[in-house]
Amino acid sequence: MIGRLNHVGIAVPSIEEAKQTYRDLYGVPESAITETRELPPQGVRYAFVNLPNSQIELIEPLGEDSPIKNFIEKNPKGGQHHVCFEVADIYAARDEMVVRGAKVLNEPRIGAHGVPVIFIHPRNSNGVLIELMETPKGAH
Ligand code: CO
Repeated sequence: MIGRLNHVGIAVPSIEEAKQTYRDLYGVPESAITETRELPPQGVRYAFVNLPNSQIELIEPLGEDSPIKNFIEKNPKGGQHHVCFEVADIYAARDEMVVRGAKVLNEPRIGAHGVPVIFIHPRNSNGVLIELMETPKGAH
């Protein structure tokens, strides 16, 4: 069974502008917004907005082969891209998802939190792309 909602992924054309929205419109203090970092193997720049009970993950395409480039072309102002739940063991979760007939989109790989993640096709979850990530050690 899935655990905590870890974050909601929002794809945006500009992380800096999106940060400004969370600061200016929603009053999130600067200290709750992380630096923007890059994850070249996965074709994204990313930053987190830390909320009391969860995170917003802002992702921006990085490079021509970015997997979110098409998403931004279809949604030029950005949009809700995925929802991420924690699991205790990513390999056990992957195997279980396959047994249950879900379309697992990738082999476990290190994501923005430094722990392995997999993605489940939106067709299996009411049209929502689901990320499963292994609970970071020492979290919670
Ligand atoms: Co994510």
